[in-house]
Formats: sequence, structure tokens, C-alpha cells
Amino acid sequence: MGAGEIESADRPLAQHDVKDLVNTPPLFDGHPRMRAIRSLIESIADTDTTVLIRGESGVGKDLIARALHAASTRRQGPFIKVNCAAIPQGLLESELFGHEKGAFTGAHRRKPGQFEFANKGTIYLDEIAELPPALQAKILHVLQDFRFSRVGGHGMIDVDARVVAATNRDLEQAMERGEFREDLYYRLNVVEIRVPPLRERREEIPALAAWFLAKFNAQYGRQKQLPAGTLARLSSYSWSGNVRELENAVRRLVVLSDGEQAVEALVDRRRPTPVDALRPLVTESLREIARRGAREAERKALAEVLERVHWNRAEASRILKVSYKTLLNKICECGLTPPSRREP
Ligand SMILES: Nc1ncnc2c1ncn2[C@@H]1O[C@H](COP(=O)(O)OP(=O)(O)OP(=O)(O)O)[C@@H](O)[C@H]1O
Ligand SMILES: [Mg+2]
Repeated sequence: MGAGEIESADRPLAQHDVKDLVNTPPLFDGHPRMRAIRSLIESIADTDTTVLIRGESGVGKDLIARALHAASTRRQGPFIKVNCAAIPQGLLESELFGHEKGAFTGAHRRKPGQFEFANKGTIYLDEIAELPPALQAKILHVLQDFRFSRVGGHGMIDVDARVVAATNRDLEQAMERGEFREDLYYRLNVVEIRVPPLRERREEIPALAAWFLAKFNAQYGRQKQLPAGTLARLSSYSWSGNVRELENAVRRLVVLSDGEQAVEALVDRRRPTPVDALRPLVTESLREIARRGAREAERKALAEVLERVHWNRAEASRILKVSYKTLLNKICECGLTPPSRREP
């Protein structure tokens, strides 16, 4: 779909539909960290908080943004996606905020921007790190008072939109380099969702592969199967392109007559050699080992406190002396799930 796309639910969603949408297999279901993301989406469903979704390319950030919208009280409103990297920088301000007639050469008529279209809904700013500095400042103002002016306009326009942003870039590094505004970072990052790469949630590969197989068999009228051996290979492959790469591999398997061989060739090409297999052991720095230790200790303490207070998150945030937002982020990062969601 295009850079600025509009989607709106064509019928009102009942509460149980919301659960269904967020639970649709294999979405967010096959790994504790994904289940934690699902709980987080549910726990902020009735709030308007700004959400920043982070993760490598192809992990499913768009899907999560849509699930956030579908679970929110704004689900009957529009969902507007703007890919900040796909629009030439010179046109981005007008794309986002619209322009008045005569604002620049070629502006023959007044044009509303995507923020106006997103009124009463959600605006999803994808690849937010690509915003040029002047626009970062303008977005910051919109997030502060939900008002803006069109390019070449003087009057202020009020907007009631929930902002969800996503990036696969290291924003902290971009801030250090002076490429991303710190104040905007804090404004956007009210709740942060970190989507793990597929190689860190391999348990999901069989379910995802089965899902894509069924989808493409139906789409292309085929009855291809996934032999157990191929599935095992898929499960141990590194998937640097994440779920998107897996999806494309299964599509190839379904559409090509020699699809199995094509997929086998792909996963064999980059199967780790014995030297590769040793590499993580050899190259992990002391600093990383210490970080991992600290993360594990943090996870253990967090789990203990949450058990003790029966998952009363407000109480847990008081005990642990962190803000509620930080606690939600930590729960998500550590992949913790409330007892009711655990597998029997
Ligand atoms: N959990 C999932 N279940 C089913 N399909 C998924 C899942 N996660 C990702 N996909 C599919 O994988 C593809 C890539 O996902 P998506 O576009 O959401 O990734 P992204 O993180 O936004 O990537 P990019 O950073 O490149 O924009 C899409 O076709 C999406 O439907
Ligand atoms: Mg995306």
C-alpha cells in the first residue's frame, strides 16, 4: 500500500472481537516475549498513550501498530500509516500537515494532510528516525498540544489522533549524533514495545510457517506440504530478514514447482559452519556478559515481586520504585506474562 494509507474498520467491533483480533494466531502467541507484547497491548487498549515500536526490519512492527489500533477505543476511526522514509523530504511536511493553496509552486489547491485524515483515529509514523529536524520539531509540538498549521497557513487546526511510531534504527545513537531530538524521543517513547528478532523466538517458526503455508496454498490454489525435515531446517535458520523473509521463503515454496529445493538451498546457504557455531562463545565481550547477568537478575526480581503482589502492576511499580511505564516496559522486555496467560 502507499505511503499514506487509510484504513478504517467497516463495522463497529465488540469487546470480544478486540480479543480475537489481538489473539489471532499466530500473532503474538508463540513465545513469552510476544505474549507479553499482547498483554501490553491489552493493558493500554483504553488509553491514548503514544507508543514507540522498535525492532529489526520484518519483525512485525506494522502488524503490532494495527493491533494497537484495533484494540483501542479508536478502532472505528481511521488508521493512517505514513512511511517517513518513503516520501521525499521536501514533500513530507505537506504530506503530514497539508498545505494551503499557493503555499509553494504547484500547490494549486488546498490539501489536507495525513494528521487531519487521522482525526479520531490513529496515525502510524513508520521509520520515524528518518524525519528531518524541522519536522521533528513540528511533530513535537503536535504531540504537546495536538494543534498544527498547514504549510502556508496561519490558522491552527486541532487534531484528535493517537500517535504510534516505529523504527528499526538505534534512536539512542541517532540522539548522540544529534540526528534525533531527545525531547521528541521522550514524547514518543511513553510506552515502548521492543519486538524481538525471529531468531530470538524460534519457537514461533513452525506456527508462522504453517500459517503462511495455509495462506499461500489458499491464495495460489496449491496443496503444498512442509516436510518435517524442511521445517526443522527453517527452525534453525538465522532469518536476518525476520518474519518477512520467512513469509517470502514459504511463498516461494508454494509457488515454485521446485519450491522445496529453493527453500532448502536458501537455508543451506547460510547454515552455520562449525567456526560460526563457536563464534558467539568467542566474541561475547565481558561487558555483554555482565549486561546479560544484570538482565537475568532484574528479570528474576521482577518476576518475584509480580508473583507476590498477584500481578498488581501499580503495587509492583511502588515496591520496585520505578514508574508504571518503566514497569510495563520491563515486563515486556523480560517476556513475563501473568499466570492467566501461561500455557496450561
Ligand atoms: N506474528 C506474525 N504473524 C503473521 N504474520 C506476521 C507476523 N509478524 C510479521 N508478519 C508478516 O511479516 C511481514 C513483515 O511484517 P511487518 O511489515 O509488520 O514488519 P516491520 O517490522 O514493520 O518491517 P519494516 O521495519 O521493514 O517496516 C508482513 O507481511 C507481516 O504480515
Ligand atoms: Mg514496517
